[in-house]
Amino acid sequence: MTKFLVTSGLPYANGDLHIGHVAGAYLPADIFVRFQKLKGNDIIYICGTDEHGAPISIKAESEKVSPQEIVKRYHESIKQAFDDVGIEFDNFSGTSREEHHRISQDFFSNLLEAGFINKKTTPQFYDEEHKRFLPDRYVEGICPHCGEDEARGDQCDSCGKLIEAIQLKSPKSKISGNTPIIKDTTHWFLNLPKLENELQEWLKTKTYWKENVHNFIMSWLNEGLIERAITRDINWGIKVPLKNTDGKVLYVWFDAPIGYLSSTVEWAKLQGKPDKWKDYWLDENCKLIHFVGKDNIPFHTIIWPAMLMKQKENYILPHDVPANEYLSINGKKISTSKNYAIWVKDFVKYFDGEYLRYVLAANAPEKKDSDFSWEDFQNKINTDLANILGNMANRVFAFSKKYFDGVILKPIKFSEISKKVFEKSDILFEDIEKDYSEYKVRKATRDIIEIARIGNKYFDETQPWKTVKLDKAKANETLFVCAELLRKISIVFSPIIPKSMNKLREILKLTKEIDWDSLQTKICEYNIGEVKPLFPKIQDDEIKYQNELLNKIENENVELEHKDEIEFDDFMKMELRIAEVIKAESIKKSKKLLKVVLKIGNETRQVIAGISQFYKPEDLIGKKVVALFNLKPRKVMGIESQAMILSAEENGKLSVLIPDRSVSTGSEIR
Ligand code: MF3
Ligand code: ZN
Repeated sequence: MTKFLVTSGLPYANGDLHIGHVAGAYLPADIFVRFQKLKGNDIIYICGTDEHGAPISIKAESEKVSPQEIVKRYHESIKQAFDDVGIEFDNFSGTSREEHHRISQDFFSNLLEAGFINKKTTPQFYDEEHKRFLPDRYVEGICPHCGEDEARGDQCDSCGKLIEAIQLKSPKSKISGNTPIIKDTTHWFLNLPKLENELQEWLKTKTYWKENVHNFIMSWLNEGLIERAITRDINWGIKVPLKNTDGKVLYVWFDAPIGYLSSTVEWAKLQGKPDKWKDYWLDENCKLIHFVGKDNIPFHTIIWPAMLMKQKENYILPHDVPANEYLSINGKKISTSKNYAIWVKDFVKYFDGEYLRYVLAANAPEKKDSDFSWEDFQNKINTDLANILGNMANRVFAFSKKYFDGVILKPIKFSEISKKVFEKSDILFEDIEKDYSEYKVRKATRDIIEIARIGNKYFDETQPWKTVKLDKAKANETLFVCAELLRKISIVFSPIIPKSMNKLREILKLTKEIDWDSLQTKICEYNIGEVKPLFPKIQDDEIKYQNELLNKIENENVELEHKDEIEFDDFMKMELRIAEVIKAESIKKSKKLLKVVLKIGNETRQVIAGISQFYKPEDLIGKKVVALFNLKPRKVMGIESQAMILSAEENGKLSVLIPDRSVSTGSEIR
């Protein structure tokens, strides 16, 4: 039996959880933990909210409430979101709790005592209007590494590099918007150069780490390690455990990873076994695995291990840091500040959290960034889950109910074709085990769906609807083989979609408790219970609606390019009137153009309008529209156009303007 301690990066308690978070650090860990539990290994999954630092205090200041209030709100809402998508921690704590403060201060004191922390006075940005230093996210500017603007004083979102606030070019205070001045302040620095050799030696043993993680570390080490400030001039955080340090707190990235430990300590206490955390943190055979998003790599592979190395207790060091890349939406970066995201709490209003799990597993950003789109979501659910797996299950259930009263018996002998199916699927079942233990969730989903595909093909080829009339035993055999596949799928798919697999097991009247070994269990008889739909399909209009919601957000973010100002008289030069469409026909040689006849008062005008992709002629006839009448007539494809119909353009799509109430033709627009 192997022992594991698994963590996911502690989410900041300053906002809700979006699908990018789930895909990056939480779902992969949850799947890994569920798999290891099936394997019977000793594993706990530890998390909590990251409740200190500039992200929280900035949010609190902008809302004029206390940081505690922000922390409480988002701790609850994040916890709920995890619940909604079935991410199950053994403990979910928070870093503003007392025990965490105590342990973090110990970490600092131990490092100081061991000689790995230096005190230094250095220049910092300072907001003169607010009389405050501007650490981390309190200041924004141009990234000194990649030149991207909107880089923050702690890290650049664009290139992922850590930044010392003072290096930012064209800095702006987040509080006042002013350009800060530079002022000296005293801080404590973690002496990473002094630890460099030890870190290098240790990192050399990590040959099995993911390539993206390895590359990141190499580029870090090549640049050389520097001393990093681990205190800050703000009020919200953990007090520096030294005299005369008012107004100084530990840097959030110093205390946050300690949350993994303090949350485990809390877990042990809650169990009534206060020493139990030691079974994990102090057992050198326990594998500590940190699941994080890529921006967290340096903290978990270099800074945090360095902190752990110089403690009094002999803590274990990370065994692995299987960091994921980013998830984009419709090819665009998720941005919480622009509200460009799909929030978990919104998602679950419309769809089952299991569907999110499936799609994010099938499309996990494991080696490179991956993309989410609603069309792809619909396609994956309707194809993989509904048409392939769901269909296979339904066929077996319906057929066995119809011809066998739901009872499927193990055949005395299997035919060649059945044996082949077992052989092929067994290889895949073994692959899946390997996939999971190597964090290859994408591949696991592919292998599982492949088994269902094999099942469907086998069902087609053995044609039970024919054999049932000639040789009932043959039809029974088909059903048995398929039921075996379904039973095994219900085990191996459960780390990804546990609720649905439970449902499947209920239909197959199998026990709720499962383990990986039961793949080998010999079954003599299946008895199909009440059949419930497993994977309802997602309809086109549901996807259309979600896309509209997303478009709305995007449009709110568009930066408009304005035209030059005009005089009122300029506007009045335009003769805009309501007109009725009395005739409309497509123009033979053109895909885009419609020939429309408008009536205004007692006049008629002929217009060539480029709206044929968006309106059929019959949709327009009888509609009252807005048209510009004194536009100089012009020829379009040789036909004269005597006015212009007004329409709104969105991403190339035109929508004709129509008055809100019924008005007579000829009415003027002003
Ligand atoms: N709150 C950080 C983030 O969201 C992650 C902290 S991970 C921990 O990026 F190790 F510090 F806990
Ligand atoms: Zn950058």
